[in-house]
Amino acid sequence: MPQRRHLGAAALLTLTLPLALAACGGGSGEDAFEADPDALQIYSSQHRNVTEAWAQAFTEETGIKTQVREGQDASMGHMIVEEGDASPADVFLTENSPAMTIVERAGLLAPVDQETVAQVGEGMAPSSGAWTAIAARSTVLVYNTDEISEDELPTSIMDLAEPEWAGRWGAAPGGADFQAIVAGMLSDQGEQETQAWLDALAENAEVYQNNIATMQAVNAGEVPVGIMYHYYWYRDQAADKEGSANTKLHYFGNEDPGAFVSLSAGGVLTSSDRPDEAQQFLAYVTGPEGQQVLVDSGSMEYAVGTGVASDPALPPLTDLDAPPVDPFTLNSDDVVTMMTDAGIL
Ligand SMILES: [Fe+2]
Repeated sequence: MPQRRHLGAAALLTLTLPLALAACGGGSGEDAFEADPDALQIYSSQHRNVTEAWAQAFTEETGIKTQVREGQDASMGHMIVEEGDASPADVFLTENSPAMTIVERAGLLAPVDQETVAQVGEGMAPSSGAWTAIAARSTVLVYNTDEISEDELPTSIMDLAEPEWAGRWGAAPGGADFQAIVAGMLSDQGEQETQAWLDALAENAEVYQNNIATMQAVNAGEVPVGIMYHYYWYRDQAADKEGSANTKLHYFGNEDPGAFVSLSAGGVLTSSDRPDEAQQFLAYVTGPEGQQVLVDSGSMEYAVGTGVASDPALPPLTDLDAPPVDPFTLNSDDVVTMMTDAGIL
């Protein structure tokens, strides 16, 4: 049984920084950065290719210059909080919404324009109006069809805590993607169940660096199943299938915590000295053109704008039967503390 530790805010901050290396978002922009005073400052922990496609298309459309600073979900959220009123950031885009709630809880988000919120589907913006979804991603179970048959698959992600799954599943718990899934589980199942599941993960799971490594390990037969986000698999399938040819995806559905849908979030900082342009950017990203930029980028994430179809290879978002988790209560700091308690981080 790992020793329980309780972390203060300062310890938590230093803890989240090394995790940045293992997550799958942006690059090393949190280190050296000089803000161009003539450009709209976009802090982003979303995938680099998506954010850059949005920034470029927005500039072409409006003539407004943009500069993107790349980072990782939790560490970039904490960095904006640290910078406070002095932050150069005008806009923050996250890969998973828990990074946005870090900034929201610090009172640093300006309300998103009503017209922008109206552009995304039902349930895609918090009741506080502090941010909006810009994309969505689904949790899936990837499995090796040579190693396991469909009827042997777990019916719930919670089943993976059972002894029969010891050494037979893979995950990337160091990444923000997986931590968002656990934040969903925490909201849905409560602290006791989630801590027990994490304790079992520490015993049972094979740990990989990221979603892609998990998928490749399943494909190679190292483990029969793995937890990941859907889009890495669809990207590989659309390319050479090198990391996924021997695999299929299982969707838990049934409002299972393993069917968690994570929202990528967009918000405007209260400290922005270009609030109108910042709002204009979010309106663009969530509007028909910006959402089409997302689909055309090949990221295989779900579009969230009403009237914009996601890639036809994807099962419809509304068919996934995701758990009724309130995304606005997700807390990645609590998850990091619980994972540390379990000895995973
Ligand atoms: Fe990712």
